[in-house]
Amino acid sequence: MTQKVLLKLSHISKRYKTETALKDISMALHEGEILGFLGPSGAGKTTAIKIITGQLRQTTGEAKLLDTDSANIDASIYEKIGVVADNSGIYEKIPVWQNLSIFAKIWNVPKERITEVLQQVGLYEYRKKYAGKLSKGQMQRLVLARAVLHKPRILFLDEPTSGLDPATAVSIHRMLLDLKKDGMSIFLTTHNMEEAEKLCDNVALLFHGEIVEYGPPQEICLKYNRNKQYSVRLENQEQITFAQTSENITKIAELMQENRIQSIHSCEPTLEDVFLQVTGTSLQS
Ligand SMILES: Nc1ncnc2c1ncn2[C@@H]1O[C@H](COP(=O)(O)OP(=O)(O)OP(=O)(O)O)[C@@H](O)[C@H]1O
Ligand SMILES: [Mg+2]
Repeated sequence: MTQKVLLKLSHISKRYKTETALKDISMALHEGEILGFLGPSGAGKTTAIKIITGQLRQTTGEAKLLDTDSANIDASIYEKIGVVADNSGIYEKIPVWQNLSIFAKIWNVPKERITEVLQQVGLYEYRKKYAGKLSKGQMQRLVLARAVLHKPRILFLDEPTSGLDPATAVSIHRMLLDLKKDGMSIFLTTHNMEEAEKLCDNVALLFHGEIVEYGPPQEICLKYNRNKQYSVRLENQEQITFAQTSENITKIAELMQENRIQSIHSCEPTLEDVFLQVTGTSLQS
């Protein structure tokens, strides 16, 4: 089955005055997919989102969003997409509910949808609280609620969980997977490789403005699993790492037969390891 392409970048480059932020980027977002742009600070992630959503012009190349050239995007596109970049668009001096009802009026969204979204993001009990008094994680969830209020076809998220505690990050991950189940397609940027592994159907590893690897996270990790190894924990708590040699396979089989193995794991690299292998730099730097 071929999925519909919702977004396509062809040979996009972006030069700011003194530096090149994106170099010849090509990729596509398909219907029902979560696609992740993964890269360290300064890799060009935000620049890519801004070009796609028509907030910034590329230097060369073509970006198409829902069959419209990004250069020709007008306000009507915002009925079909949701963008979460920062807290902009939230009025701090009015309560949570009213923040959403302003947008519900603009987009002709029924009131019931406000309740539904607030429940989904876990903010219903805070609906009367002034937005300016929300915690950081609550604010992040309000921004997300606003972005999905009108059920957009594509949701753009720039670092959706950056700076959040692990529990709030997990609740945002759950929401994103729920939205995907409802049929939304999601483009997100992150420098958190665990987040990318957990959420994304495809990831593009971005380094100094170039895509250095692209594909499903698991496939990328297996591709770089060049020296196959197995980590074995014995019943006597001893931990041994075996390289895949015929000698070691016999040894592992013997240990198994003797019932001396407590656990055994293959040691394929994580996306973080792959990134380090390909670029020589850690993602977190
Ligand atoms: N308006 C601008 N003018 C000049 N240079 C810019 C501008 N915006 C970004 N850059 C540069 O382009 C490069 C890519 O920036 P970008 O914001 O896209 O990175 P990022 O991957 O989103 O990083 P982060 O993870 O820190 O958000 C950086 O080196 C940055 O300094
Ligand atoms: Mg950024």
